[in-house]
Amino acid sequence: MIKILFVCLGNICRSPTAEGVFRHKASEEGLTDIMIDSAGTAAYHIGNPPDKRSQHTASKYGIDLSTLRARQVAYSDYTEFDYIIAMDNENLRNMQSECPGEHRHKLFKFTEFCDRHVGEPVVPDPYYGGSDGFEKTFSIIEDAAEGFLNHIKREHNL
Ligand code: 4NP
Repeated sequence: MIKILFVCLGNICRSPTAEGVFRHKASEEGLTDIMIDSAGTAAYHIGNPPDKRSQHTASKYGIDLSTLRARQVAYSDYTEFDYIIAMDNENLRNMQSECPGEHRHKLFKFTEFCDRHVGEPVVPDPYYGGSDGFEKTFSIIEDAAEGFLNHIKREHNL
């Protein structure tokens, strides 16, 4: 079983979208022995469903985020998961400083796996912006999810 955790700040916009998109793509490719989750580095939105704007954008692409609920990254996640994927530099830095050294190799920035949005440094936080931001965020997430899925398939000979 491969365990993957997507992480952003609030766990209501970017990381639940990444979770939903990646789950959809992994299932399309027939990858079944995989566990996918998401979390936030901050505690503001614990227990909340994804932001309505993220749900709306994802639903346009056939992805339902409505049952997801926000949680905060737990120390045990560094042991539990095989890949821990940060949406931006701040999320990555916060986890790098908290993560025990022997698990630090599990930490990645999602945009490293982009193929079309090359040079995009981070998955931008759409929370305070308009609906254009949610579309752009979704498009970067979709690109990174495809690249990351190919990475996993290569690493695990799937
Ligand atoms: P996310 O977006 O990290 O992609 O879930 C945010 C959600 C909430 C806040 C900031 C970013 N906030 O400040 O409440």
